[in-house]
Amino acid sequence: MNVEYGDLIEVGPHIFLCGDVMEGDILALLAYVNIDEKIDMIYSDPPWSSANCRYWRTIAKKTCESIETWPVSFDIFLSHITHPISCIAKRINVMWIEASMKEYNKVVEAFNSYDTIREYLPFSGEWTICYGSPKRPNKLLRFSQTNTIKDDPTYLSGEAPTDWAFKQDDSQLSETVFDFCIGQGMTARKAYKYNKTVYGLELNPKRLKKTIEFFENKGFKARKIS
Ligand SMILES: C[S@@+](CC[C@H](N)C(=O)[O-])C[C@H]1O[C@@H](n2cnc3c(N)ncnc32)[C@H](O)[C@@H]1O
Repeated sequence: MNVEYGDLIEVGPHIFLCGDVMEGDILALLAYVNIDEKIDMIYSDPPWSSANCRYWRTIAKKTCESIETWPVSFDIFLSHITHPISCIAKRINVMWIEASMKEYNKVVEAFNSYDTIREYLPFSGEWTICYGSPKRPNKLLRFSQTNTIKDDPTYLSGEAPTDWAFKQDDSQLSETVFDFCIGQGMTARKAYKYNKTVYGLELNPKRLKKTIEFFENKGFKARKIS
């Protein structure tokens, strides 16, 4: 299926929006058929800094007067994520976020600035992991009320921590996972592997197309809802 910016796409039970965090599209996706009532897990690997936000916008050829004429502020980007998640925090078992070594504290602070997140999704773990260049480790952050970690993911050299996170208890008891920067579908692939429904938002149509194709290749039929 050809994917264009603005498309809302159903592939079997899974729903994806090609849209922009910076333009309030997390709320737009959550509002669609009240899917916020179903989401009970979040896994996401969003941009890690202002420069990285801008990099992904350039790759996506995304133009937006108000944003493109100014440096993309990481704080503003985070506020577009933390606010909608604070509204659905109560029903989420666990949230996993990948972040940079340098800026992960900003991510934790941004989430922690909401009462509902402190109450229902308190910051409960951070690990240094290395699955890209050995010189460039990153952080896996966990927000959850429980403390049921089976082992330590820092041994995962060269491997994304997604599979490890999906195997943890509070992920396993979740049925529907949301990724607000779903890209080419790492979270979607794990959702499929572990028999969960996935909802995702992605700025770049070409990257979202790869996620849709993954499900089409598994025999699901994709259809544009709008
Ligand atoms: C580090 S990559 C995520 C990789 C992903 N886990 C995958 O499997 O491809 C970050 C993703 O965030 C997307 N992104 C960046 N800015 C965004 C925005 N403002 N709104 C929605 N998605 C965005 C990028 O296009 C990119 O696909």
